[in-house]
Amino acid sequence: MSKPHRVFVTRRIPDAGLAILENRNDIELAVYPGDRAIGAKELRAGAKGATAILSILTDKIDAAVMDAAGPMLKIIANYAVGFDNVDLAAANERGIIVTNTPGVLTEAVAEHAFALMLAAAKRITEADRFVRAGKYKGWGPLLLLGTQLQGKTLGIVGLGRIGYLVAERASLGMGMHVVYYDIKRDATFEEKFSAKFAPLEDLLRSADVVSLHVPLLPSTHHLIDAKKIAMMKKTAILVNTSRGPIVDERALVSALKQKRIAAAGLDVYEDEPRLAPGLAKLGNVVLTPHTASATLEARSAMAVLAAQSIADVLDGKTPQNIVRPK
Ligand code: DGY
Repeated sequence: MSKPHRVFVTRRIPDAGLAILENRNDIELAVYPGDRAIGAKELRAGAKGATAILSILTDKIDAAVMDAAGPMLKIIANYAVGFDNVDLAAANERGIIVTNTPGVLTEAVAEHAFALMLAAAKRITEADRFVRAGKYKGWGPLLLLGTQLQGKTLGIVGLGRIGYLVAERASLGMGMHVVYYDIKRDATFEEKFSAKFAPLEDLLRSADVVSLHVPLLPSTHHLIDAKKIAMMKKTAILVNTSRGPIVDERALVSALKQKRIAAAGLDVYEDEPRLAPGLAKLGNVVLTPHTASATLEARSAMAVLAAQSIADVLDGKTPQNIVRPK
């Protein structure tokens, strides 16, 4: 007997999420079989006739995909906290619900921001390459000197869940001073962590480490450009676990090359998976492949949240975490 709802999952996600969909008898589940990002044509073909699409952050879910799915499409459950890959206005026009997966990856991403921060400050990846290359000939007083974070100022750009947790841990766990910039101030946060609010320019001038936690919006595209990088301390470290296009990557490469700032830790890139020319050659940058949320715990919880949003919509309930156009 044919099942009333086709659910298209654009790439295999952890079993905990798939099980929620598989265990229902009203769903015909189609999971894109390739372990790679689906192409635009395959995406439109796979979406055809779907009531729900479970998408990942590399899928461009635009009006063409929604129209290819057809009038049955009720929900796009995006397997990410970021949703810049989904055309929210087009979904709204068509009455399609869009959801994301906030909350469950906060710890994973915050921990990753610290991993990058510490790796850059303590020159961990440089040191690792040094040892593996057989260059370690004995302890040296000046060998690979890094920067201590205790007592330094952390500049948090964007005080959402992740920015808040990074600030909290930096303040309580690492003895860092916190300065933050957001579109709105949080007096309780300021009091709790003796944190200072500052306009972005002032934050960039005063921070020893700048960690980015803003969503990608037209207003945050190239928020950190050559002009802003030039405001940073020569000794500063830039950490980006948010979205690549927030930083002008070519400008960053040039600043790192000329040591206008000390180092960077990047998990995201402007044109993923491509890197700006010269980035991979730099010694003073730590690079990870958009794996900030890649813990078993976070990715499984994201899968459950995305699948549950679909189940809720099929059951006529309002799912958690609906995102709407501004
Ligand atoms: C997200 O969920 O937006 C993250 O970038 C995933 O790593």
